[in-house]
Amino acid sequence: MSYLETTAQFYAEAAETPQIGLCCVSTPPLQLPGLKVPEIMQQMNYGCGTTIHPTELFGEPTVLYIGVGGGLEALQFAYFCRKPSAVIAIDPVSEMRLAAARNLQFAAKENDWFDANFVKILEGNAFELPMPDASVDVVAQNCLFNIFEPADLQRALREAHRVLKPGGRLIMSDPIATRPIPLHLQADERLRAMCLSGAMTYDEYIQQSIDAGFGQVEIRARRPYRLLDIHNYDLEQSLLLESLDSVSFKVPIPSDGACVFTGKTAIYSGAESFLDDRVGHVLQRGIPSAVCDKTATKLALNFPQEVTITDSTWHYNGGGCC
Ligand SMILES: C[S@@+](CC[C@H](N)C(=O)[O-])C[C@H]1O[C@@H](n2cnc3c(N)ncnc32)[C@H](O)[C@@H]1O
Repeated sequence: MSYLETTAQFYAEAAETPQIGLCCVSTPPLQLPGLKVPEIMQQMNYGCGTTIHPTELFGEPTVLYIGVGGGLEALQFAYFCRKPSAVIAIDPVSEMRLAAARNLQFAAKENDWFDANFVKILEGNAFELPMPDASVDVVAQNCLFNIFEPADLQRALREAHRVLKPGGRLIMSDPIATRPIPLHLQADERLRAMCLSGAMTYDEYIQQSIDAGFGQVEIRARRPYRLLDIHNYDLEQSLLLESLDSVSFKVPIPSDGACVFTGKTAIYSGAESFLDDRVGHVLQRGIPSAVCDKTATKLALNFPQEVTITDSTWHYNGGGCC
């Protein structure tokens, strides 16, 4: 069996026998006014972090959700886009599609505002999305792409890029590794399916999105996820995994490289009332301006005395220089 078949089999089992804490979310499920999440959906929360960022969801976007799981995030997206087929959720595992459809029927009974036809569940996989080019506003996936080997991840990211409208957003939540995961763990298909051994480092993960054509990436959250310890994972040193929530925008890649926002700001403290770097950034004296990491590096290099760059907060929520 290939690792993708092992993954499919693993989730077929997880659909039939819910495995509480399988993906071990490190935050409680997002609570929204008037939204009741059925118990079974909570038990089948196989994501890490979240892909639901209300500020991304203005204007009733059409959402393509890859890897439906128990349907929790499809329901949460539908909360913001209340119309038939507003959320198209795909999964190659028939057991998972059936479980999600059942769970969404439960949700419809518990929530007056929700109609199960707001979410359309389709058979499909991340490498061949059943959607035309430039047809959706948002693509989301939680805790699936980290399972993919690098070449497959690149295929999946390019597919997401293909189906997004210009300016559209790929919202992801995945584990990343604080150092490269040793090969013996990477080769363990079951651990990979459990989102424990396929993770890339932060730099590799972000570069994959840029290589797929996304010109801007924003980090919404970065937090500890799991510790692979020396006793259970045959390691010489324990290895921390983090979960990373990000949004990648289908915008052209600037000629000097993609913009990656991690929460850095630039603060001008020179003698004038503002600093104009003549390439599009105007900093008012004493006022932090959100900047992408590329601009932060250039400003620090060009104005070492007058500009202070603050550290990445790993919680960036819009606004900024580019
Ligand atoms: C870790 S679970 C995450 C489920 C859901 N996103 C959540 O947060 O609860 C991975 C999901 O991706 C599905 N999946 C597995 N292989 C896939 C593929 N090649 N393309 C799309 N989905 C896939 C699994 O069946 C499962 O529903």
